Amino acid sequence: MYKFVIRGGNKLFGQVHVSGAKNASLALMPACLLAPGTYTIRNTPDLRDVATMSRLLETLGARVALSGNEQTIDTKHVANFEAPYELVKKMRASIYVLGPLLARYGHAKVSLPGGCAWGPRPVNLHIEGMQKLGADVTLESGYIVAKAKKLKGAHIEFDVSSVGATGNVMMAAVLAEGTTTIGNAALEPEIVALGEFLVKMGAQIQGLGTPTVTIEGVRELHAVDFMNIPDRIETGTLLIAGAITGGSIRVINCEPTHVSALLAKLERAGAQVITGQNWIELKAPVEIQPVDISTSPYPGFPTDMQAQWIALMTLSNGSSIVTETIYFDRFKHVPELVRLGADIEVKENVAIVKGVGSLKGAKVMSTDLRASASLIIAGLVAQGTTEVLRIYHMDRGYERIEEKLKGLRADIERVQSDEF
Ligand code: EPZ
Repeated sequence: MYKFVIRGGNKLFGQVHVSGAKNASLALMPACLLAPGTYTIRNTPDLRDVATMSRLLETLGARVALSGNEQTIDTKHVANFEAPYELVKKMRASIYVLGPLLARYGHAKVSLPGGCAWGPRPVNLHIEGMQKLGADVTLESGYIVAKAKKLKGAHIEFDVSSVGATGNVMMAAVLAEGTTTIGNAALEPEIVALGEFLVKMGAQIQGLGTPTVTIEGVRELHAVDFMNIPDRIETGTLLIAGAITGGSIRVINCEPTHVSALLAKLERAGAQVITGQNWIELKAPVEIQPVDISTSPYPGFPTDMQAQWIALMTLSNGSSIVTETIYFDRFKHVPELVRLGADIEVKENVAIVKGVGSLKGAKVMSTDLRASASLIIAGLVAQGTTEVLRIYHMDRGYERIEEKLKGLRADIERVQSDEF
Protein backbone atom coordinates (compact mmCIF):
# COMPACT_ATOMS: atom_id res chain seq x y z
CA MET A 1 0.00 0.00 0.00
CA TYR A 2 1.17 3.54 -0.65
CA LYS A 3 0.22 7.00 0.50
CA PHE A 4 1.10 10.47 -0.71
CA VAL A 5 2.83 12.80 1.76
CA ILE A 6 2.27 16.39 0.68
CA ARG A 7 3.78 19.51 2.23
CA GLY A 8 1.42 22.32 1.25
CA GLY A 9 2.19 25.90 0.25
CA ASN A 10 4.21 25.60 -2.97
CA LYS A 11 2.77 27.53 -5.91
CA LEU A 12 2.76 25.36 -9.04
CA PHE A 13 4.83 26.70 -11.91
CA GLY A 14 5.96 25.17 -15.19
CA GLN A 15 4.75 22.90 -17.95
CA VAL A 16 3.11 19.49 -17.66
CA HIS A 17 1.95 17.01 -20.29
CA VAL A 18 -1.40 15.23 -20.19
CA SER A 19 -1.64 11.47 -20.74
CA GLY A 20 -4.07 9.65 -23.02
CA ALA A 21 -7.72 9.45 -22.01
CA LYS A 22 -8.46 6.59 -19.58
CA ASN A 23 -12.15 6.51 -20.49
CA ALA A 24 -11.36 6.35 -24.20
CA SER A 25 -8.81 3.52 -23.74
CA LEU A 26 -11.34 1.51 -21.73
CA ALA A 27 -13.70 1.61 -24.73
CA LEU A 28 -11.12 1.23 -27.54
CA MET A 29 -9.57 -1.89 -26.00
CA PRO A 30 -12.74 -4.07 -26.00
CA ALA A 31 -13.58 -2.77 -29.51
CA CYS A 32 -10.57 -4.81 -30.70
CA LEU A 33 -12.68 -7.93 -30.01
CA LEU A 34 -14.85 -7.06 -33.02
CA ALA A 35 -12.31 -8.24 -35.61
CA PRO A 36 -9.32 -10.63 -35.39
CA GLY A 37 -5.97 -8.95 -35.91
CA THR A 38 -3.17 -6.96 -34.30
CA TYR A 39 -4.12 -3.44 -33.20
CA THR A 40 -1.90 -0.53 -32.15
CA ILE A 41 -3.35 2.13 -29.85
CA ARG A 42 -0.95 5.02 -29.29
CA ASN A 43 -1.05 7.50 -26.38
CA THR A 44 -2.48 4.77 -24.10
CA PRO A 45 -2.04 5.78 -20.44
CA ASP A 46 -0.20 3.37 -18.13
CA LEU A 47 -2.94 3.03 -15.47
CA ARG A 48 -4.36 0.38 -13.15
CA ASP A 49 -7.67 0.46 -15.01
CA VAL A 50 -5.89 -0.11 -18.35
CA ALA A 51 -4.03 -3.03 -16.75
CA THR A 52 -7.34 -4.45 -15.47
CA MET A 53 -8.91 -4.20 -18.93
CA SER A 54 -5.77 -5.83 -20.38
CA ARG A 55 -6.14 -8.72 -17.94
CA LEU A 56 -9.79 -9.07 -18.87
CA LEU A 57 -9.00 -9.21 -22.61
CA GLU A 58 -6.28 -11.76 -21.86
CA THR A 59 -8.74 -14.00 -19.99
CA LEU A 60 -10.77 -13.95 -23.22
CA GLY A 61 -7.71 -15.12 -25.18
CA ALA A 62 -6.32 -11.84 -26.50
CA ARG A 63 -2.69 -10.83 -26.11
CA VAL A 64 -2.08 -7.29 -24.81
CA ALA A 65 1.23 -5.41 -24.39
CA LEU A 66 2.01 -1.83 -23.42
CA SER A 67 5.44 -0.43 -24.18
CA GLY A 68 5.69 3.16 -23.03
CA ASN A 69 2.34 4.49 -24.14
CA GLU A 70 2.05 2.33 -27.26
CA GLN A 71 -0.36 -0.57 -26.78
CA THR A 72 -0.63 -3.61 -29.04
CA ILE A 73 -3.63 -5.93 -28.85
CA ASP A 74 -3.80 -9.25 -30.71
CA THR A 75 -7.31 -10.71 -30.89
CA LYS A 76 -6.63 -13.54 -33.34
CA HIS A 77 -7.06 -16.20 -30.67
CA VAL A 78 -10.04 -15.06 -28.60
CA ALA A 79 -11.77 -18.22 -27.41
CA ASN A 80 -13.43 -17.42 -24.09
CA PHE A 81 -16.49 -15.24 -23.66
CA GLU A 82 -16.81 -14.74 -19.91
CA ALA A 83 -15.89 -11.62 -17.93
CA PRO A 84 -15.43 -12.94 -14.37
CA TYR A 85 -16.72 -11.26 -11.20
CA GLU A 86 -13.14 -10.88 -9.86
CA LEU A 87 -12.27 -8.49 -12.68
CA VAL A 88 -15.65 -6.79 -13.21
CA LYS A 89 -15.94 -5.90 -9.51
CA LYS A 90 -12.62 -4.06 -9.79
CA MET A 91 -13.74 -2.00 -12.73
CA ARG A 92 -17.26 -1.31 -13.97
CA ALA A 93 -16.01 -0.54 -17.49
CA SER A 94 -15.46 -4.31 -17.90
CA ILE A 95 -19.06 -4.40 -19.08
CA TYR A 96 -17.78 -2.91 -22.36
CA VAL A 97 -16.90 -6.45 -23.53
CA LEU A 98 -20.61 -7.37 -23.66
CA GLY A 99 -21.42 -5.65 -26.97
CA PRO A 100 -18.33 -6.76 -28.92
CA LEU A 101 -18.51 -10.40 -27.73
CA LEU A 102 -22.21 -10.60 -28.67
CA ALA A 103 -21.62 -9.00 -32.06
CA ARG A 104 -18.64 -11.12 -33.02
CA TYR A 105 -19.21 -14.45 -31.26
CA GLY A 106 -22.95 -14.47 -30.56
CA HIS A 107 -22.62 -14.98 -26.83
CA ALA A 108 -21.22 -13.37 -23.71
CA LYS A 109 -21.29 -13.93 -19.97
CA VAL A 110 -20.45 -10.78 -18.01
CA SER A 111 -20.62 -10.38 -14.25
CA LEU A 112 -22.87 -7.62 -12.96
CA PRO A 113 -20.55 -4.82 -11.77
CA GLY A 114 -21.85 -4.50 -8.23
CA GLY A 115 -21.84 -1.17 -6.42
CA CYS A 116 -18.97 1.26 -6.04
CA ALA A 117 -17.92 3.85 -3.49
CA TRP A 118 -20.81 6.08 -4.37
CA GLY A 119 -23.82 3.84 -4.52
CA PRO A 120 -25.25 1.42 -7.06
CA ARG A 121 -24.52 2.05 -10.71
CA PRO A 122 -27.11 0.21 -12.79
CA VAL A 123 -26.51 -1.41 -16.18
CA ASN A 124 -30.13 -1.69 -17.29
CA LEU A 125 -29.55 0.51 -20.35
CA HIS A 126 -26.77 -1.81 -21.54
CA ILE A 127 -29.01 -4.88 -21.15
CA GLU A 128 -32.06 -3.23 -22.76
CA GLY A 129 -29.88 -2.07 -25.66
CA MET A 130 -28.69 -5.62 -26.37
CA GLN A 131 -32.25 -6.94 -26.13
CA LYS A 132 -33.47 -4.31 -28.62
CA LEU A 133 -30.75 -5.58 -31.01
CA GLY A 134 -32.29 -9.05 -30.72
CA ALA A 135 -30.14 -10.66 -28.02
CA ASP A 136 -31.63 -13.04 -25.51
CA VAL A 137 -30.38 -11.75 -22.14
CA THR A 138 -30.91 -13.45 -18.77
CA LEU A 139 -29.44 -12.81 -15.32
CA GLU A 140 -27.94 -15.96 -13.80
CA SER A 141 -26.37 -15.86 -10.32
CA GLY A 142 -24.91 -12.39 -10.68
CA TYR A 143 -24.00 -12.74 -14.35
CA ILE A 144 -25.49 -11.23 -17.49
CA VAL A 145 -25.84 -14.14 -19.93
CA ALA A 146 -26.45 -12.93 -23.49
CA LYS A 147 -26.95 -14.91 -26.71
CA ALA A 148 -27.73 -13.88 -30.27
CA LYS A 149 -27.39 -15.81 -33.54
CA LYS A 150 -27.19 -12.54 -35.41
CA LEU A 151 -27.93 -9.09 -33.99
CA LYS A 152 -30.45 -7.05 -35.95
CA GLY A 153 -30.43 -3.26 -36.30
CA ALA A 154 -33.03 -1.38 -34.20
CA HIS A 155 -33.97 2.05 -32.88
CA ILE A 156 -32.70 2.53 -29.33
CA GLU A 157 -33.77 5.61 -27.40
CA PHE A 158 -31.93 6.18 -24.09
CA ASP A 159 -34.06 7.94 -21.49
CA VAL A 160 -30.81 8.78 -19.64
CA SER A 161 -27.70 9.91 -21.49
CA SER A 162 -25.27 7.07 -20.77
CA VAL A 163 -21.60 7.04 -21.86
CA GLY A 164 -21.18 3.30 -21.30
CA ALA A 165 -24.48 2.17 -22.75
CA THR A 166 -23.94 4.32 -25.87
CA GLY A 167 -20.50 2.77 -26.34
CA ASN A 168 -21.71 -0.78 -25.76
CA VAL A 169 -24.64 -0.46 -28.18
CA MET A 170 -22.40 1.15 -30.84
CA MET A 171 -19.96 -1.77 -30.59
CA ALA A 172 -22.81 -4.30 -30.84
CA ALA A 173 -24.55 -2.53 -33.75
CA VAL A 174 -21.58 -2.21 -36.14
CA LEU A 175 -21.82 -5.93 -37.07
CA ALA A 176 -25.62 -6.21 -36.78
CA GLU A 177 -27.85 -6.80 -39.81
CA GLY A 178 -29.37 -3.51 -41.01
CA THR A 179 -29.60 -0.05 -39.50
CA THR A 180 -29.39 0.98 -35.84
CA THR A 181 -30.28 4.46 -34.66
CA ILE A 182 -29.39 5.57 -31.14
CA GLY A 183 -31.46 8.41 -29.68
CA ASN A 184 -30.13 10.55 -26.79
CA ALA A 185 -26.65 9.15 -27.50
CA ALA A 186 -23.78 10.33 -25.27
CA LEU A 187 -21.72 13.18 -26.77
CA GLU A 188 -18.62 12.63 -24.64
CA PRO A 189 -15.30 12.90 -26.58
CA GLU A 190 -14.44 9.35 -25.45
CA ILE A 191 -17.51 8.03 -27.27
CA VAL A 192 -16.70 10.10 -30.37
CA ALA A 193 -13.18 8.63 -30.25
CA LEU A 194 -14.67 5.11 -30.01
CA GLY A 195 -16.86 5.88 -33.01
CA GLU A 196 -13.85 7.14 -35.00
CA PHE A 197 -11.96 3.98 -34.04
CA LEU A 198 -14.85 1.81 -35.29
CA VAL A 199 -15.12 3.81 -38.55
CA LYS A 200 -11.38 3.32 -39.10
CA MET A 201 -12.05 -0.43 -38.59
CA GLY A 202 -14.56 -0.24 -41.46
CA ALA A 203 -17.80 0.51 -39.58
CA GLN A 204 -20.42 2.84 -41.06
CA ILE A 205 -21.44 5.41 -38.44
CA GLN A 206 -23.06 8.84 -38.87
CA GLY A 207 -23.86 11.48 -36.27
CA LEU A 208 -20.94 10.99 -33.88
CA GLY A 209 -20.93 13.80 -31.31
CA THR A 210 -24.64 14.45 -31.86
CA PRO A 211 -27.59 13.03 -29.88
CA THR A 212 -28.60 10.82 -32.85
CA VAL A 213 -26.12 8.21 -34.06
CA THR A 214 -26.93 6.03 -37.10
CA ILE A 215 -25.06 2.77 -37.73
CA GLU A 216 -25.28 0.63 -40.90
CA GLY A 217 -24.19 -2.88 -39.95
CA VAL A 218 -21.33 -4.35 -42.03
CA ARG A 219 -20.21 -7.94 -42.52
CA GLU A 220 -16.72 -7.59 -41.13
CA LEU A 221 -14.19 -5.15 -39.74
CA HIS A 222 -10.38 -5.06 -39.59
CA ALA A 223 -7.60 -4.21 -37.14
CA VAL A 224 -6.27 -0.63 -37.04
CA ASP A 225 -3.54 1.67 -35.73
CA PHE A 226 -5.12 4.53 -33.72
CA MET A 227 -4.02 7.59 -31.72
CA ASN A 228 -5.93 7.97 -28.45
CA ILE A 229 -7.27 11.39 -27.41
CA PRO A 230 -5.87 13.31 -24.40
CA ASP A 231 -7.48 12.88 -20.97
CA ARG A 232 -9.78 15.86 -20.39
CA ILE A 233 -10.30 15.01 -16.71
CA GLU A 234 -6.57 14.90 -16.00
CA THR A 235 -6.32 18.21 -17.90
CA GLY A 236 -8.94 19.76 -15.62
CA THR A 237 -7.42 18.26 -12.48
CA LEU A 238 -3.99 19.79 -13.27
CA LEU A 239 -5.53 23.18 -14.08
CA ILE A 240 -7.37 23.26 -10.75
CA ALA A 241 -4.15 22.30 -8.94
CA GLY A 242 -2.48 25.32 -10.59
CA ALA A 243 -5.41 27.57 -9.71
CA ILE A 244 -5.69 26.61 -6.03
CA THR A 245 -1.95 27.01 -5.34
CA GLY A 246 -1.75 30.53 -6.79
CA GLY A 247 0.66 29.45 -9.51
CA SER A 248 0.95 29.68 -13.28
CA ILE A 249 1.10 26.51 -15.37
CA ARG A 250 1.00 25.36 -18.99
CA VAL A 251 -0.74 22.07 -19.73
CA ILE A 252 0.36 20.51 -23.03
CA ASN A 253 -0.72 17.51 -25.17
CA CYS A 254 -4.32 18.36 -24.24
CA GLU A 255 -7.47 19.18 -26.21
CA PRO A 256 -8.75 22.61 -25.02
CA THR A 257 -12.12 22.17 -26.77
CA HIS A 258 -12.84 19.15 -24.53
CA VAL A 259 -12.71 21.28 -21.36
CA SER A 260 -14.62 24.42 -22.42
CA ALA A 261 -17.17 24.24 -19.59
CA LEU A 262 -14.41 24.00 -16.97
CA LEU A 263 -12.35 26.82 -18.53
CA ALA A 264 -15.36 29.14 -18.42
CA LYS A 265 -15.87 28.38 -14.72
CA LEU A 266 -12.15 28.84 -13.96
CA GLU A 267 -12.25 32.29 -15.57
CA ARG A 268 -15.36 33.14 -13.50
CA ALA A 269 -13.33 32.07 -10.43
CA GLY A 270 -10.70 34.67 -11.37
CA ALA A 271 -8.15 32.62 -13.30
CA GLN A 272 -6.59 33.91 -16.53
CA VAL A 273 -6.73 31.25 -19.25
CA ILE A 274 -5.12 31.23 -22.69
CA THR A 275 -5.56 28.27 -25.06
CA GLY A 276 -3.66 27.08 -28.13
CA GLN A 277 -3.92 24.12 -30.52
CA ASN A 278 -2.97 21.51 -27.93
CA TRP A 279 -2.10 23.54 -24.81
CA ILE A 280 -3.70 25.64 -22.09
CA GLU A 281 -1.99 28.27 -19.94
CA LEU A 282 -3.54 29.18 -16.62
CA LYS A 283 -2.61 32.01 -14.25
CA ALA A 284 -4.19 31.47 -10.83
CA PRO A 285 -6.77 33.89 -9.41
CA VAL A 286 -5.37 36.47 -7.01
CA GLU A 287 -8.48 35.74 -4.95
CA ILE A 288 -10.61 32.69 -5.75
CA GLN A 289 -14.16 33.86 -6.51
CA PRO A 290 -17.10 31.61 -5.48
CA VAL A 291 -18.66 30.02 -8.58
CA ASP A 292 -21.66 27.67 -8.56
CA ILE A 293 -21.59 24.58 -10.78
CA SER A 294 -24.10 21.90 -11.72
CA THR A 295 -22.75 18.71 -13.32
CA SER A 296 -24.30 17.51 -16.56
CA PRO A 297 -23.48 15.28 -19.54
CA TYR A 298 -20.97 16.61 -22.09
CA PRO A 299 -20.49 19.39 -23.06
CA GLY A 300 -21.67 20.48 -19.59
CA PHE A 301 -19.53 20.53 -16.45
CA PRO A 302 -18.32 16.93 -15.98
CA THR A 303 -19.29 14.95 -12.89
CA ASP A 304 -15.69 13.66 -12.90
CA MET A 305 -14.54 17.23 -12.11
CA GLN A 306 -17.05 17.90 -9.31
CA ALA A 307 -14.82 16.77 -6.44
CA GLN A 308 -11.88 18.78 -7.75
CA TRP A 309 -14.08 21.87 -8.10
CA ILE A 310 -15.30 21.58 -4.53
CA ALA A 311 -11.65 21.48 -3.38
CA LEU A 312 -11.01 24.77 -5.21
CA MET A 313 -14.12 26.40 -3.76
CA THR A 314 -13.09 25.59 -0.16
CA LEU A 315 -10.73 28.59 -0.38
CA SER A 316 -13.01 31.01 -2.27
CA ASN A 317 -13.94 34.38 -0.77
CA GLY A 318 -17.61 33.48 -0.53
CA SER A 319 -20.14 30.63 -0.72
CA SER A 320 -20.72 28.40 -3.74
CA ILE A 321 -23.31 25.76 -4.56
CA VAL A 322 -22.25 22.51 -6.22
CA THR A 323 -25.10 20.40 -7.63
CA GLU A 324 -24.42 16.79 -8.68
CA THR A 325 -27.05 15.66 -11.20
CA ILE A 326 -25.39 12.48 -12.54
CA TYR A 327 -24.59 10.53 -9.33
CA PHE A 328 -26.61 12.02 -6.50
CA ASP A 329 -24.38 10.75 -3.72
CA ARG A 330 -20.93 11.34 -5.21
CA PHE A 331 -19.70 13.26 -2.15
CA LYS A 332 -17.43 10.81 -0.31
CA HIS A 333 -14.63 13.40 -0.60
CA VAL A 334 -16.55 15.96 1.49
CA PRO A 335 -15.96 14.51 5.00
CA GLU A 336 -12.26 14.16 4.16
CA LEU A 337 -12.03 17.77 2.93
CA VAL A 338 -13.77 18.85 6.17
CA ARG A 339 -10.96 17.09 8.08
CA LEU A 340 -8.62 19.52 6.31
CA GLY A 341 -10.68 22.44 7.66
CA ALA A 342 -13.11 22.97 4.80
CA ASP A 343 -16.63 24.25 5.53
CA ILE A 344 -18.99 22.15 3.38
CA GLU A 345 -22.56 21.06 3.98
CA VAL A 346 -24.21 18.41 1.82
CA LYS A 347 -28.00 18.23 1.44
CA GLU A 348 -29.14 15.43 -0.92
CA ASN A 349 -27.30 16.09 -4.19
CA VAL A 350 -26.18 19.64 -3.34
CA ALA A 351 -23.00 20.73 -1.54
CA ILE A 352 -22.80 24.26 -0.08
CA VAL A 353 -19.14 25.26 0.13
CA LYS A 354 -18.28 28.23 2.35
CA GLY A 355 -14.79 29.54 1.63
CA VAL A 356 -12.35 29.46 4.57
CA GLY A 357 -9.11 31.39 5.03
CA SER A 358 -6.91 28.34 4.90
CA LEU A 359 -6.82 24.54 5.08
CA LYS A 360 -4.72 22.63 7.59
CA GLY A 361 -2.83 19.46 6.74
CA ALA A 362 -4.15 16.15 8.10
CA LYS A 363 -4.31 12.43 7.35
CA VAL A 364 -7.14 11.77 4.86
CA MET A 365 -8.54 8.71 3.10
CA SER A 366 -9.14 8.23 -0.61
CA THR A 367 -12.48 6.57 -1.37
CA ASP A 368 -12.55 6.71 -5.15
CA LEU A 369 -10.59 8.03 -8.09
CA ARG A 370 -11.81 11.62 -8.36
CA ALA A 371 -12.24 12.00 -4.58
CA SER A 372 -8.52 11.21 -4.23
CA ALA A 373 -7.73 13.93 -6.77
CA SER A 374 -9.65 16.49 -4.70
CA LEU A 375 -7.74 15.52 -1.54
CA ILE A 376 -4.39 15.89 -3.31
CA ILE A 377 -5.44 19.29 -4.68
CA ALA A 378 -6.39 20.42 -1.17
CA GLY A 379 -3.15 18.99 0.28
CA LEU A 380 -1.09 21.06 -2.16
CA VAL A 381 -2.36 24.23 -0.52
CA ALA A 382 -3.09 23.10 3.07
CA GLN A 383 -0.73 24.41 5.74
CA GLY A 384 1.67 21.74 6.98
CA THR A 385 1.63 18.11 5.93
CA THR A 386 -1.25 16.16 4.40
CA GLU A 387 -1.13 12.36 4.06
CA VAL A 388 -3.50 10.90 1.47
CA LEU A 389 -4.02 7.17 2.13
CA ARG A 390 -5.17 4.41 -0.29
CA ILE A 391 -3.75 6.11 -3.36
CA TYR A 392 -4.29 2.96 -5.40
CA HIS A 393 -7.54 4.76 -6.24
CA MET A 394 -5.46 7.54 -7.81
CA ASP A 395 -3.33 5.11 -9.78
CA ARG A 396 -6.49 3.85 -11.48
CA GLY A 397 -6.84 7.04 -13.47
CA TYR A 398 -3.75 9.26 -13.23
CA GLU A 399 -0.41 8.27 -14.75
CA ARG A 400 2.50 9.02 -12.34
CA ILE A 401 0.62 12.04 -10.96
CA GLU A 402 3.19 12.72 -8.23
CA GLU A 403 5.98 13.02 -10.82
CA LYS A 404 3.86 15.43 -12.86
CA LEU A 405 3.10 17.55 -9.77
CA LYS A 406 6.73 17.45 -8.60
CA GLY A 407 7.67 18.71 -12.07
CA LEU A 408 5.46 21.72 -11.26
CA ARG A 409 7.32 22.30 -7.95
CA ALA A 410 4.82 20.52 -5.66
CA ASP A 411 6.29 18.94 -2.53
CA ILE A 412 4.75 15.47 -2.81
CA GLU A 413 6.21 12.02 -2.14
CA ARG A 414 4.84 8.51 -2.69
CA VAL A 415 5.58 6.60 0.53
CA GLN A 416 5.07 2.96 1.49
CA SER A 417 2.30 2.67 4.07
CA ASP A 418 0.97 -0.22 6.13
CA GLU A 419 -2.00 1.91 7.09
CA PHE A 420 -5.12 0.63 5.37
C1 EPZ B 1 -18.61 6.87 -17.55
O1 EPZ B 1 -19.19 5.93 -16.66
C2 EPZ B 1 -17.23 7.17 -16.99
N1 EPZ B 1 -16.46 5.92 -16.94
C3 EPZ B 1 -17.34 7.75 -15.58
O2 EPZ B 1 -16.02 8.13 -15.19
C4 EPZ B 1 -18.20 9.01 -15.63
O3 EPZ B 1 -18.39 9.48 -14.32
C5 EPZ B 1 -19.56 8.69 -16.27
O4 EPZ B 1 -19.37 8.09 -17.57
C6 EPZ B 1 -20.43 9.94 -16.44
O5 EPZ B 1 -19.76 10.85 -17.26
C7 EPZ B 1 -15.94 5.43 -18.08
O6 EPZ B 1 -16.09 6.00 -19.15
C8 EPZ B 1 -15.16 4.16 -17.96
P1 EPZ B 1 -23.00 6.57 -17.50
P2 EPZ B 1 -20.57 5.17 -17.08
O7 EPZ B 1 -23.53 5.29 -18.04
O8 EPZ B 1 -20.56 4.89 -18.54
C9 EPZ B 1 -27.07 6.02 -15.19
C10 EPZ B 1 -14.11 8.17 -13.84
O9 EPZ B 1 -13.94 8.79 -12.80
N2 EPZ B 1 -27.14 4.71 -15.85
O10 EPZ B 1 -22.81 7.73 -18.43
O11 EPZ B 1 -20.75 4.04 -16.16
C11 EPZ B 1 -25.95 6.08 -14.16
O12 EPZ B 1 -26.39 5.56 -12.93
C12 EPZ B 1 -15.41 7.44 -14.09
O13 EPZ B 1 -13.28 8.10 -14.78
C13 EPZ B 1 -28.30 3.96 -15.71
O14 EPZ B 1 -29.25 4.36 -15.05
O15 EPZ B 1 -21.64 6.31 -16.75
C14 EPZ B 1 -25.66 7.56 -14.08
O16 EPZ B 1 -26.59 8.19 -13.21
C15 EPZ B 1 -16.27 7.42 -12.83
N3 EPZ B 1 -28.38 2.74 -16.32
C16 EPZ B 1 -25.93 8.04 -15.51
O17 EPZ B 1 -26.70 7.02 -16.14
C17 EPZ B 1 -27.34 2.25 -17.08
O18 EPZ B 1 -27.47 1.14 -17.64
C18 EPZ B 1 -24.67 8.24 -16.32
O19 EPZ B 1 -23.92 7.03 -16.26
C19 EPZ B 1 -26.17 3.04 -17.21
C20 EPZ B 1 -26.10 4.27 -16.60
